[in-house]
Amino acid sequence: MLLLLRLGELMRKPIIAGNWKMFKTRDEALQFVYAVANKVPAIEKIDSVICAQFTVLRCLVKRQGPNLRVGAQNMHFADEGAFTGEVSASMLKSIDVSYVIIGHSERRAMFNETDEAINKKLHKAFENDLVPILCVGESLADREAGRTEEVIKRQLELDLAGLSAEDVKNLVIAYEPIWAIGTGRTATSEVANETCGFIRRYIAEAYGDDIADSIRIQYGGSVNVKNIGELMSMPHIDGALIGGASLKSEDFLQMINIALTTKNA
Ligand code: 13P
Repeated sequence: MLLLLRLGELMRKPIIAGNWKMFKTRDEALQFVYAVANKVPAIEKIDSVICAQFTVLRCLVKRQGPNLRVGAQNMHFADEGAFTGEVSASMLKSIDVSYVIIGHSERRAMFNETDEAINKKLHKAFENDLVPILCVGESLADREAGRTEEVIKRQLELDLAGLSAEDVKNLVIAYEPIWAIGTGRTATSEVANETCGFIRRYIAEAYGDDIADSIRIQYGGSVNVKNIGELMSMPHIDGALIGGASLKSEDFLQMINIALTTKNA
């Protein structure tokens, strides 16, 4: 059993993604990308991604180099239309963006994003060959009431509805407990691993063991240079989605290198 767990873990390429949220002007983004683009490890070994706001996506893509990839933080589910202020998947694809974060808890809470909309966005992202990073996670009240698994199961059922097994295999899921985001209160590596393990079991039951062995699950919530090694040493954690600590180029690079070394240990 332990050996099988380890084999599955070794099959999955780690993925570290920075979520810049609403930070960085064009000049700041340029400074960052010049500092990291030629220093991130080979893409064959680890996926290194920056998810930035729309205004700097093209400027990052142009300078991403061979190993860094760029993602958006949101998109609309329609192809085009009268949706003032929105951006479509095909628009992201047309500027060579590779990833898109879907269903971040800040969007669910502050911009009324529903599971139904998230589900439509996932379908549209796959149609346009973008790799979605789907965020799920429970509130503090849910965790304290023992409802973590129930809440996450419901999110997964609704968000993934109608997706093919092949799509799910290529999806990245970020487990982000809301109480750990921007609070400095990281989930312990055991708690994070347990919930990521629950997500993997759900995927195994719904889509089969092969898909569950392949799908990559990140942890997100107050990840930094100090705790990333411990988190990445856990068998069900394949990467991290990092907010605040991803804004500094040296920390971003250091976290990628720690993640790679830990998974190869
Ligand atoms: P922090 O790393 O700042 O806690 O943010 C986590 C997050 O929301 C990443 O998407």
